[in-house]
Amino acid sequence: MAEKIKVLLSEEEVDAKIKQIGEQISKDYEGRQVHLVCVLKGGSFFMCELAKRITVPVSLDFMSVSSYGSDTKSSGVVRIVKDLDEPLKGKDVIVIEDIVDSGHTLSYLLEMLKNREPASLRLCTLLDKPDRRVADVHVDYTGFQIPDEFVVGYGLDYDQKYRNLPYIGVVEFE
Ligand code: IMP
Ligand code: MG
Repeated sequence: MAEKIKVLLSEEEVDAKIKQIGEQISKDYEGRQVHLVCVLKGGSFFMCELAKRITVPVSLDFMSVSSYGSDTKSSGVVRIVKDLDEPLKGKDVIVIEDIVDSGHTLSYLLEMLKNREPASLRLCTLLDKPDRRVADVHVDYTGFQIPDEFVVGYGLDYDQKYRNLPYIGVVEFE
């Protein structure tokens, strides 16, 4: 293995933050049902943990997108690899993401989902790298703002590895 992982946010810190976001969402959506839209694969670990902390009725759906362009630079054009199973019309939708980086993926995705006429549409991300933002994206719920470093764990991968780490770590290349 040519890389090392240094802990940035411990399992306890991440779990506590997810509990807090779950409580906030439960308050904000009191008396309503929330429809969580998970962006695969990265958002899946976060969504499952978050859903368990939400006390209003929850329904779930999943979509998978891939951005055209090189692996390291997202181009802003997004291809749907797997679309949602259910229509969004009239639903209170929260998109669940692992990380907002340049913002290209999310700005494109949110625009597309808005056209499906949900009653409301919000964005919840576990991590945010504000220094890297290129596209204008409004984030409604943020777990942690982190510096511009490549991170893995809790759904985030490096070359498809480390998604299963129960904490967030920085990849150190040797
Ligand atoms: P954006 O379109 O640049 O915001 O790209 C966001 C996507 O890039 C995320 O959903 C991740 O899949 C990936 N990504 C961005 N930063 C990282 C990172 O530090 N580690 C792992 N994946 C990342
Ligand atoms: Mg992602």
